[in-house]
Amino acid sequence: MCGIVGILGREPVAEQLVDSLKRLEYRGYDSAGVATLEGNHLERRRADGKLKNLEARLHDKPLKGTTGIGHTRWATHGKPTEHNAHPHATERVAVVHNGIIENFRELREELEAKGAVFRTETDTEIVLHLVDDLLARGNKPVEAVKHALIRLRGAFALGFIFAGEGDLMIGARNGPPLAIGYGDGEMYLGSDAIALGPFTNTISYLEDGDWVVLTRNSVATFDKDGHAVQREKISHAASTSLVDKANYRHFMAKEIHEQPEVVGHTLARYVDMATERVALPVKLPFDFKNIQRINLTACGTASYAGLVAKYWFERFARLPVEVDVASEFRYREAPLRKGDLAIFISQSGETADTLAALRYAKAEGAHTIAVVNVPTSTIARESETVLQTLAGPEIGVASTKAFTCQLMVLASVAIAAGKARGQLSEEDETRLVHGLVEIPRLMADALSTELQIEKLAHRIAKSRDVLYLGRGTSFPLALEGALKLKEISYIHAEGYAAGELKHGPIALIDETTPVVVIAPNDRVFEKTVSNMQEVVARGGNIILMTDAKGAAEATVDSLVTIVMPDMPAAFTPMVYAVPVQLLAYHTAVVIGADVDQPRNLAKSVTVE
Ligand code: F6R
Repeated sequence: MCGIVGILGREPVAEQLVDSLKRLEYRGYDSAGVATLEGNHLERRRADGKLKNLEARLHDKPLKGTTGIGHTRWATHGKPTEHNAHPHATERVAVVHNGIIENFRELREELEAKGAVFRTETDTEIVLHLVDDLLARGNKPVEAVKHALIRLRGAFALGFIFAGEGDLMIGARNGPPLAIGYGDGEMYLGSDAIALGPFTNTISYLEDGDWVVLTRNSVATFDKDGHAVQREKISHAASTSLVDKANYRHFMAKEIHEQPEVVGHTLARYVDMATERVALPVKLPFDFKNIQRINLTACGTASYAGLVAKYWFERFARLPVEVDVASEFRYREAPLRKGDLAIFISQSGETADTLAALRYAKAEGAHTIAVVNVPTSTIARESETVLQTLAGPEIGVASTKAFTCQLMVLASVAIAAGKARGQLSEEDETRLVHGLVEIPRLMADALSTELQIEKLAHRIAKSRDVLYLGRGTSFPLALEGALKLKEISYIHAEGYAAGELKHGPIALIDETTPVVVIAPNDRVFEKTVSNMQEVVARGGNIILMTDAKGAAEATVDSLVTIVMPDMPAAFTPMVYAVPVQLLAYHTAVVIGADVDQPRNLAKSVTVE
C-alpha cells in the first residue's frame, strides 16, 4: 500500500524523504514523489517505477527545502504514471494520501461545478481541491483541512504542507495508520515506525478520526469531533539495521533463513521450555470449556495459517472451527453467538478486510483474539486479546516468517484449548509441546534442502502451470505453496487437496505440468501415494517433499524427492513451509522477477 513520510527539518529534507521512502518500499509501490517548500512556494519531483527514478529526477533538479512530504504510490484510482504520482499540489497546498476516498465522484462533480480543474485520475486530487478551494476562500490551512476532512468518506491517511508556511505540516488518519515522530527541533509524519526509524525512536500513533497539526516544536492532535487529545508516546526499537538485507540478495531470502530463530523466539514466548507446557503470555478473558465454536478470519497467507490451525483445534480440542477469508466474512453477516471466539490473523495488523471483520465480530459480542506481528497495529489495538508473533519486521512482500510464527502461536493456543477442555492429558500436552520445541532445529535442517531446490527451480521456471497437492495439514500448505509461487514468479499455480485430484484437476496433468506433492509420512501418506500414482500414470512429473521413511515407501517415480527431516506428524507444516518457500523464491530468482516487490502487490493492504 502507499507509504507516507513528512519532515519538518533543520537541513534540506529531500534526501531524508527518499531514504525514508526506501524503508517503505516493502509495502509495494509503482511510483513515488516528494514535495518541498522552496522559499515560499511548493515544488515537486515525481517518477513512475522504482525510487531510483525519483532519485535521478532529484539529481537532475535538486530540492533544497527543509519542509517536505514524500510518497510511494500503490495505484488504486488511475494508472501508475508519473502524472498520477503523489504528492499532488496546487500553488497553495501539497498532499500525500494512502487509502481510498469513497465519495470522490460526488465531490469531484461538486468541485468541478465550482471551477476546479482536475489533472489526474486519482481520488486524492479531490482532497487537494477541497483544501485548495477552502484556502482560496480565505481559510487558514488548519481551518481548511479541518473543514475538508469532514467532507471525506473512506479510508485515508493524509499529509499536507502549504505554500508560505515553512513551519507547518498537517496529518490526518481514518483507517490506514499514521505515526508522528518526535525529533529534536524537528518533527515527522510516517506510515509506520519503520519509515521513521532513521530519525527518531519516539513516536505516537494517530487514532481513527484524528488529525494533527505539527510545527518543529509542537504537536497538537485533535479527534474527529475537534477535541484536543493526547496520544501516548511510545519508544519504538525499529532501528536502521532492521531493514538491512544482511548478506542476502533479497529480503525474502533473509526472512526464510531467519525462521529457525524467530519461530524459536515465538515458541519461547508461548511455551515453558523447562516444563514443556503451554504458557500463553496473557490470560485469556474466557474459558475454552465454554467456547462452542471458533471462527478464524484472515487474508491470503495468513488465512492459510488459519486453515492449518483448524486441523489443530479440531483434533486437539474437539472444537468446531470455521475459516473465512476476511473480505467474505465481513459482508456475509455470519451469525456469531455472544461468547463465541473469533481469531484474526494478520502480519501487518492493518489489513482493511481483516480489521472490518474484527469490528463485526466485536459488535456481535464475540471474544476476539488477534494474532499479529505488529503490536502497535490497529488490529492489535482493537482486539480483546493480542497474541503477538515475534517474527520481527517482514519486509519482503511475500509473507514467509510471519506465516510460520503464526503457526507456532496457533499451535500453542490449540494445545492450550485441548488441555482446558479436557481433551488432552498432561502427557499429551508434554508430547505436543516437545514436538513444538523441536521445530526451530528442524526448520534449520530443512534449510539444507536449498541447493537441491535451487537446481529444481531452473526446471520449474520453464513451466506454465504448477500443481501443489497435500492432505490434512499439508493441504493448506499446498494452497500456500501455489500462492507463493504465483505471486513472486508469475507462474500459474493451484493448490488442491490431494483427494480432490480426480474430481477435476487431474484433467490438467501432462508431462509439462510439475506436481509438487507435500506428503510427510503421516497417517494419510498411503492415500497420497495413490494420488501420486494417478499423476504418474498420466505422464505427470512429481516433485515429492517427504521424510526418509516416506521416500523409501513411496512406490512412485518422482522427478525429484526432497527429503525432509523426520518429525512428529502434527506440526509438519511449519517445517515443510521452508522448501515450499525456497522453491517459489529460487524460481522467481531464475526468472529474474522482482522478488521482494512483486508487480501489483502491496505488503500492507489497507484498502478493501
Ligand atoms: C502473501 C501475502 C499476503 C498476506 C495478506 C494478509 O505472501 O503476504 O497474502 O498474507 O495480504 O496480510 P496481513 O497478514 O498483513 O493481514
